[in-house]
Amino acid sequence: MALRIIAKKGEPILNKHCRPVTEFNARLHTLLDDMRETLMASNGVGLAAPQVSILRRAVIVLETNVEQDGDEYIIELINPEIIAQEGEQDGSEGCLSIPGLYGYVKRPMKVTVRAQDRNGEWFEVTGEGLTARAFCHELDHLDGILFDQYVDRLLTEEELLAEMEEAAEPETPEA
Ligand code: CO
Repeated sequence: MALRIIAKKGEPILNKHCRPVTEFNARLHTLLDDMRETLMASNGVGLAAPQVSILRRAVIVLETNVEQDGDEYIIELINPEIIAQEGEQDGSEGCLSIPGLYGYVKRPMKVTVRAQDRNGEWFEVTGEGLTARAFCHELDHLDGILFDQYVDRLLTEEELLAEMEEAAEPETPEA
């Protein structure tokens, strides 16, 4: 496994439309493994292939709403599509490709995605809260959309500090 370099806003690759994944081979598995390592090293909650300069429809999302054993795990979504959504949440958001920018973005409270796994098997997964937010944020990356265009209001410095001091709560998710 290897760390990959995360593209930053201003690099044209982040505004491009990604092509579907058609080959579920070792090359894809290496990409996904590298994305996992890169995400863990950056403390983010999600990462899309175009953020590591690969224009394919693949994202990973950290599932943090685990009630049973408390262990976080990573969901891999290949060729994902949102097939259902409900409710609304208004919360702060950030992006590993736009360091230092945090803002309030409205997202659905609950989102169901249909996607393939790393072996090409189709499945459905439903995320709520932060996970739903991350699904939307990452899928937008596949269509060249960055979250800053949806920001209603940037966080003030005070709000940012207050969030970071809430030790029990995650700071503004970067994805
Ligand atoms: Co992002």
